[in-house]
Amino acid sequence: MAKLAVVTGGAGFIGSHLCERLVADGYQVISLDNYFTGSKENHVEGVEYREGHTKDIAKHIVETPDIVFHLGEYSRVLTSFDDVEKVWDLNVKGTFGVLEFCKKKNIRLIYAGSSTKFGEFDDADNGENKSPYAYFKTTNTQLVNNYGEWFGLDYAITYFYNVYGPRERAGTYGTVIEIFRQKILNGEKLKVFGTGEQRRAFTHVKDTVDGIILVGEKGEGDGHCISAKKEYSIMEIAKAFGGEIEMKDALPGDRKRSKCDYTKMEELGWVPKEDVLDYIKESNES
Ligand SMILES: NC(=O)c1ccc[n+]([C@@H]2O[C@H](COP(=O)([O-])OP(=O)(O)OC[C@H]3O[C@@H](n4cnc5c(N)ncnc54)[C@H](O)[C@@H]3O)[C@@H](O)[C@H]2O)c1
Repeated sequence: MAKLAVVTGGAGFIGSHLCERLVADGYQVISLDNYFTGSKENHVEGVEYREGHTKDIAKHIVETPDIVFHLGEYSRVLTSFDDVEKVWDLNVKGTFGVLEFCKKKNIRLIYAGSSTKFGEFDDADNGENKSPYAYFKTTNTQLVNNYGEWFGLDYAITYFYNVYGPRERAGTYGTVIEIFRQKILNGEKLKVFGTGEQRRAFTHVKDTVDGIILVGEKGEGDGHCISAKKEYSIMEIAKAFGGEIEMKDALPGDRKRSKCDYTKMEELGWVPKEDVLDYIKESNES
C-alpha cells in the first residue's frame, strides 16, 4: 500500500510543488490548507485537498499518516509587523496542533523553518527577534526540538532560503523575484529598499523540494539548511531584470544576509542545480 503523506499548506507556493513531487514518487497525498494565501489554482492532480486550520488537524485528518510535512504557516516578514495576532494564530497555535497530532499518533514530522532566524544585521548577528515572523518561526523550531527531547517525536527541521519559481506570488504576500517579474511585465519601476546591498541565496523551488524529500527520507533533528550556494544582492537582481530602479527607505526586519550551515544537506547528498540569474534571463526572453 502507498505511504500516506500529509502536507500542510499544500495549496501554497512551495507546498504545491511538494505535493506534486510526492504524488510522482508514489505517495498518497492529503493537503490541509486554510487558503489564507493558498489558492485552488495551485491544486495538482492526484492530491486530496481538505480545507482547515492546522490547529484542528486532528479533526480534519482522521487517518494516521506515515509522515507530515508542515509548511502551512503565515510566511512573510514585512507584513508580519501588522499581523502579529494572525502570525501567532496560524503559526504558534497551528504548529502546537500539528505537534500534538504527531505526538499522539507517533508520526514523523518535517517542519519548514525559516532562514530569517540566521539573519545578519548591523546590530545583531542573529535574526530571531527582528520581526514577528522570524520570532514565531524561531520559537516553533525550538518547540519542535523540544517535542523531540520531551516526547521522543521523530522529526527533522528544514530551513528554506528565498525560494523562487513557478507559482510564486507577487502582491501583498509576495516575494521579490515574482514581484520584480510582474513589475517588468507591467512596465513599472522596480523598488529597491535600503542600500540594495542586502544579499540573498535565492533557491529554486525544484531544488528546495528535492531537499525536502531527502530530509523526509533521511533527515534527523535540526539544521537542514536548503540553500543555494551563491548569493546575489537585491540590486544585482534588479539590474538582471533590467527595469528602471527606484530607491526607497530601508524596511524593518530586512536582514543583510542569512548565514547557512551546509553540512547536513551535504551529508544527505543534496546539490542545488539552479541559478536565479538563468531564471530571470528566461523570464526576460519569454
Ligand atoms: N518562500 C520562502 O522563501 C520561504 C522561506 C523560508 C521559509 N518558508 C516557509 O515555507 C512554508 C511555505 O511557504 P510558501 O512560500 O509556500 O508560502 P505560502 O503562503 O505560499 O504557503 C503557505 C500555505 O499555508 C497555508 N496556511 C497558512 N497558515 C495555515 C494554517 N494555520 N492552517 C492551514 N493552512 C495554512 C496558506 O493558505 C498557504 O497555502 C512556510 O511555512 C514558510 O514560513 C518559505
